[in-house]
Amino acid sequence: MKSNLITTKPELSRAGFTSGFGVLAATLGSAVGLGNIWKFPYLTGANGGAGFLLVYVLATLLVGLPVMMAEISLGRAGKANPISTLQSLAPKNQPWWLIGVAGMLGAFLILSFYSEVVAWVFAYVVKALRGSILSSDPHVTEAAFGALISDPVQSLLWQWVVLVFIGGILLMGVTKGIEAMTKKLMPILFLLLLLLCAVSLSLDEVWEGLAFLFQPDFSKITASVVLTAMGLAFFKLSVGMGTMMTYGSYFRDDQNIPLTTLRVMAADLSISMLAGIAIFPAVFTFGFAPAAGPALVFITIPAVFSQIPMGQGLMVVFFVLAAIAATGAMLSLMEVPVVILHERVGLSRTKATLLTIVLLVILGSTSALSNSTLADHRLFGMSPFDLFDFVSSNIILPVGGIFIALFVGWGWGFEKFSRSLTNNNQLHNRHLAQMVFLLLRYVSPALILIVMLKGLKLF
Ligand code: PHE
Repeated sequence: MKSNLITTKPELSRAGFTSGFGVLAATLGSAVGLGNIWKFPYLTGANGGAGFLLVYVLATLLVGLPVMMAEISLGRAGKANPISTLQSLAPKNQPWWLIGVAGMLGAFLILSFYSEVVAWVFAYVVKALRGSILSSDPHVTEAAFGALISDPVQSLLWQWVVLVFIGGILLMGVTKGIEAMTKKLMPILFLLLLLLCAVSLSLDEVWEGLAFLFQPDFSKITASVVLTAMGLAFFKLSVGMGTMMTYGSYFRDDQNIPLTTLRVMAADLSISMLAGIAIFPAVFTFGFAPAAGPALVFITIPAVFSQIPMGQGLMVVFFVLAAIAATGAMLSLMEVPVVILHERVGLSRTKATLLTIVLLVILGSTSALSNSTLADHRLFGMSPFDLFDFVSSNIILPVGGIFIALFVGWGWGFEKFSRSLTNNNQLHNRHLAQMVFLLLRYVSPALILIVMLKGLKLF
């Protein structure tokens, strides 16, 4: 089974996936990444636990999932990059294609901090090999992480390693191989997470950890918590910026879009839940701060591994698998600017890839240096790393989501959308199409707008 998702040969690039499994694997590969292992636990910890989780799940169902179906449908109908797709599907003179431009900007912002988190993961593979971080003492694991992020040389070099690695995969045209590998390795990550959960569930403060994760304290759900949870829903499903539209353009006409998105959502949610269950009992048992921020997974996971035989070796495997999961997500992010530069600007795929990497080396360096050289430089009270993260998840993706929903709901219209979700009435899911359409036309855009206005204190 092979998929032609991404290839360096442009004439092959729209050949479509050759198997249903290819679609699912690639879409899942985009969705499952550090959003699950890194971002979900740290945001849940920083925003009060269960209440945040509840809002996040609601946002995924009411907003993330419908927008994901919309994006993939549009992509499959347009068969091109997001800008060209929206131009061809919208009436002339209506600037819906700007969604694609915003998406490209979003991809650059996300990649510039994401590449740094992947850099930490790469660095942790080496640290895990050396065994220097395997400890349940918060001071030890915090110091190890602190030493990494406050060292400008290591932070930059690891980011370059990541960017060269991703660029190399794209330039050598081996993306399909990587995807096939991811497909085989992800079940191992799943099993490893299950093992970590088992360890965590045997720790002393397991109930405190589980109560934090599953017993909502509604007083902690503020407007900005809701915005963060919604932003996470977009980020986790890779929606709101054209990634799924781009991937949709490679979908074959007989692929079942609702089923694929539902499966991706379910798998993505399960992996995040496992990461949460693996981390929070350890947080309370060993005395970590739930609100430790982006450091959370890096300082707590070594503590969980320190509790089991062969912990060091298994921790190496864990960080290698996390790096591979992150690679799938990064490749899907890169695909947006690369295809736009290729199809719209007319650069070859090789040049488009090189240009994207060079721009990321420059922009990404500000993220890499956020905790060292640029530690005193704040914009709106945030470091470049935090700012890119905040602006992309809490502004660009939701705004993209509003306009994608509005375009389908009011521009493209029910007939075309329903034909897409039902594969021209081949599938018996017209009711589902009706329901999703109503969400897209009214509910999702209104919800996103209210959450944004309240969360950003504009209203
Ligand atoms: N969903 C990816 C993750 O969870 C990140 C991502 C966001 C990828 C947006 C593509 C587009 O890691």
